[in-house]
Amino acid sequence: MSRIRLGVNVDHVATLREVRKGIYPDPVEAARICAKGGADRIVCHLREDRRHIHERDVGRLLETIHLPLNLEMSSSSEIVQIALQLRPYQVTLVPERRQELTTEGGLDVLANERKLKNIVSSFRGKKIRVSLFIDPELKQLDGAFRLKADAVEFHTGTYANASPLRRKYQLRKLSRVCREAHAMGLEVAAGHGLHYRNVRPVTRIGEIEELNIGHSIVSRALFVGLAEAVREMKGLLSENSRKRR
Ligand code: PXP
Repeated sequence: MSRIRLGVNVDHVATLREVRKGIYPDPVEAARICAKGGADRIVCHLREDRRHIHERDVGRLLETIHLPLNLEMSSSSEIVQIALQLRPYQVTLVPERRQELTTEGGLDVLANERKLKNIVSSFRGKKIRVSLFIDPELKQLDGAFRLKADAVEFHTGTYANASPLRRKYQLRKLSRVCREAHAMGLEVAAGHGLHYRNVRPVTRIGEIEELNIGHSIVSRALFVGLAEAVREMKGLLSENSRKRR
């Protein structure tokens, strides 16, 4: 049975903490509970403005959580240096703008090819896996392949926000790039804007190995608790995995 891994993003727990600049809720404690609920990976984004996750959170996640950590980050040299020192299992390079509420769109690999090439090779030199968060576009995928990334994560925000009619088109587009990426030997992940009611069609794309989900799980946790929210999402992922291929 092919099975999709679930990476749970704990940024939103840290966002709640930062509203009061206090010490709770603790994203590391949240990650521990996510692991109990069946998460396969923990994801967090160390933003340049540190609006939610701080370096010390990443350090504590690495020390105390026994799941691979996927660190989302921009390609700013400050953050790259920190990530090289922290040595997470994987980094996912994302575009970052200070004014945005959340990551808007994928990396423009083509416009930043030279800079990204150096960054990818410095991580690979330290045996840290590199994923590139890109829009489901073939030209961006070709760029990611040229950069020798280990993985790509396709941005599902456009799919998630599309009207029911456009959603089918977005799904076909996503499905096609996933097939291509897999054929290129890249590990295929997807994420952004996925929730309990729109995730099923995405789980039927056979090439997807991992989904990274945060906001909907942390929101659901308010009503059913975090472990149960993770369990429910895992249930949706494995329910459809059984029907794939
Ligand atoms: N993947 C990436 C690269 C992201 O930047 C985010 C948002 O932090 C997610 C997945 C998760 O998105 P959401 O919180 O909408 O589930």
